[in-house]
Amino acid sequence: MYLTWNCSLNIGIDRIDNQHKELFDCLEKLLTAIEDGKSNDEVIKTLDFLEEYVIKHFNEEEEIQNKTNYPLMDIQHIQHEDFKSDLKEFRRVFETHGGSTVLALNIQESLVNWLKNHIMNLDKDLGDFLIEIGYNK
Ligand SMILES: [Fe+2]
Repeated sequence: MYLTWNCSLNIGIDRIDNQHKELFDCLEKLLTAIEDGKSNDEVIKTLDFLEEYVIKHFNEEEEIQNKTNYPLMDIQHIQHEDFKSDLKEFRRVFETHGGSTVLALNIQESLVNWLKNHIMNLDKDLGDFLIEIGYNK
């Protein structure tokens, strides 16, 4: 078990919280597939799903930020783009060298920590802002 959700990660906006939980699940599946030495096809499947889900989630979050004129939307966008490019880089490494415990640990240190920090800091601020203006859809 690489990632455990706990309620301190909730930002108070149900739709976003549920998507964050799903992201945790996707990352867990990816890391477990690598660690269990699953076939390349199976790992790629988990990567494809994670990449698609990340794009969907960031787009939705950014759409809400645009709609509500959220003051920190530029910083959010930059961080989201960084995460997407890190994810692409991990795919490249996997496609070149295959899976390994080291790769799983690097993903954990990089993507998992990024996600936790991003949620605990920037997304919490977004949640507070959305609650303050009465947005919860
Ligand atoms: Fe975000």
